[in-house]
Amino acid sequence: MKTIVHLSDLHFGRADPAMAAILAKTVRDMKPDLVVISGDLTQRARKDEFKAARAFMDELPAPRFAVPGNHDIPAHYEPWHHYVLPFRRWHRFIGPELEPSFADAEISVVGVNTAHPWTIKGGQVTPLQAMRIQKEFNAAKPHALKVLVAHHPFDIPPNHPHDLIVGGEMLFKTLVEPGVDVILSGHVHEHHVGHSAERYRAAHRSALLVHAGTAISDRLRREANSFNVLSAGDGRVTVTPHLWDYDDRAYVAVEPQAFIRGAAGWERSPS
Ligand SMILES: [Fe+2]
Ligand SMILES: [Fe+2]
Repeated sequence: MKTIVHLSDLHFGRADPAMAAILAKTVRDMKPDLVVISGDLTQRARKDEFKAARAFMDELPAPRFAVPGNHDIPAHYEPWHHYVLPFRRWHRFIGPELEPSFADAEISVVGVNTAHPWTIKGGQVTPLQAMRIQKEFNAAKPHALKVLVAHHPFDIPPNHPHDLIVGGEMLFKTLVEPGVDVILSGHVHEHHVGHSAERYRAAHRSALLVHAGTAISDRLRREANSFNVLSAGDGRVTVTPHLWDYDDRAYVAVEPQAFIRGAAGWERSPS
């Protein structure tokens, strides 16, 4: 059984430092096998925000990795940094990779960068990126759970104004053959678990589309701060959202959602 902690939308610059310290300790105590952060580590991609994000990441247990979100590219009023060197600060403070990955015998987790300077808020995946992802998943161990990490979502919670990712349908077609199992994303600041068969039709395949809320920032939409914990093994995946409790000043696990791998893809199962 593997445990993956899924954080997102930290938005340092609009983050609560005390909450960040509690979150880091909470995650450390869980002793996960992997921690992933699905983008928007900062609010305006400023140096001091990246420094704070780096310090937070250093408090998380390893292995861990992050992919960029649209807020991690400097704003238009810094045109040199926005258009010419959009990831210079990311590379300086977070790491050399925009699309890191992690693999062992049981899980293959691949990051994709969906934030591009030519898109304003929405995300995009290109055919070249899709081919790279396909190659990585094809190289995974035969029974490994295949997890994609992207900032922008491949599905949207009901009644939400955001657009779907550009290239999402193309990517899904590419991922049918290696059989991606789970897509972790953020951006909409609400936790949600969907099913790809409801959005993208693919015969005999489906992926769980898992959104995390904003873990520690005050950029709340319709719910409290949150993060997700995934437990995976033996053809089962359980997603447990953890929501911030304002009275106890702690993250509290709520309503785990369990899925079992069936002949036509993931099916809901009693947790
Ligand atoms: Fe965000
Ligand atoms: Fe975002």
